[in-house]
Amino acid sequence: MPPSREQRHDQLRVLPIGFRNAHAAVADQADGTVAAQNPDIISFAPGYPAPEAFAWDDYREIATSLLAGRQGGVLQYGPTRGHKPLLEFLVSLVGTRGIRTSTDDIIVTTGSQQGLDVIARLLLDPGDVALVELPSYAGAITAFRNVRADLVGVRQDRAGVDLDHLDSLTDRLAREGRRPKFLYVVPNFQNPTGQLMSLARRAALLEWAERRDMLLVEDDPYGALYFEGAATPAETRPIKADDASGRVLYLSSFSKTLAPRSGWRGLWPRRRWPRASKRPSRLSTSARAVSTNTWCTRRADAACSIGTCPSFARTTSTNAA
Ligand SMILES: Cc1ncc(COP(=O)(O)O)c(C=O)c1O
Repeated sequence: MPPSREQRHDQLRVLPIGFRNAHAAVADQADGTVAAQNPDIISFAPGYPAPEAFAWDDYREIATSLLAGRQGGVLQYGPTRGHKPLLEFLVSLVGTRGIRTSTDDIIVTTGSQQGLDVIARLLLDPGDVALVELPSYAGAITAFRNVRADLVGVRQDRAGVDLDHLDSLTDRLAREGRRPKFLYVVPNFQNPTGQLMSLARRAALLEWAERRDMLLVEDDPYGALYFEGAATPAETRPIKADDASGRVLYLSSFSKTLAPRSGWRGLWPRRRWPRASKRPSRLSTSARAVSTNTWCTRRADAACSIGTCPSFARTTSTNAA
């Protein structure tokens, strides 16, 4: 019989104190993951893409041709920041979202989740405050708790983060001599509420960050993925696109549009921080990033025509225009 939740939490006593809470959260999340793998249950808990939408044939064809070439670079360690052509592709992809950047300011990871882990280890010391939306994405909570940060929740209304609450929390923390390290937000189809932050609220948040000299961590795995008519590209414009002073760290992912763990990009306000932080956990970016790059650059049209990622089709064609 599998161990009960209490038994699992009990087993966690062997872990260092800082990791216990986080691992307990992961153990709880595992229940949702198990439910998602049961074919009789459509689980909305962990945000799994539908497997029938994966581009199976394209992935098979690309993997076969890459492996047939026997080029060392396909399976070899690669640059820590990511495969250069992929970085270049990402510069043009985020350009279609209004973000102007360069390959120097992007780092590739296995997904947005690893980006959150890098950010947590880079920016948060034990006891530091991280502001998060109420409710917030469970994986971000886990990453921030892992480094023993104090999470402070900011209320949301129908337009997004409640600015009055945010200001009063920041003032209260300042009176206590505490300054949040950043505010973590998911403006596009937030997890878990599904809410789309209004453009006015995005602008107000950026203004707040400027006024208070704060960093924003903008997590955007869902901006390219919505039912036609549910939103427009203008309505999903990232906050990062209007960030003139480099205070927004932008994360995105191919997990929901191509397949989980198939690539990520982050945009960093100050160069060279993340590479040092990522290196201890991952010496280099793997060949899967290479195959994602090949997929992106060679197969974007094919994927779009078989309908796996309509928004991707739009951004690609906008780019081509
Ligand atoms: C808001 C949010 N951020 C990050 C992730 C994880 O993304 P990835 O699979 O790219 O690590 C998810 C997945 O559910 C998510 O909902």
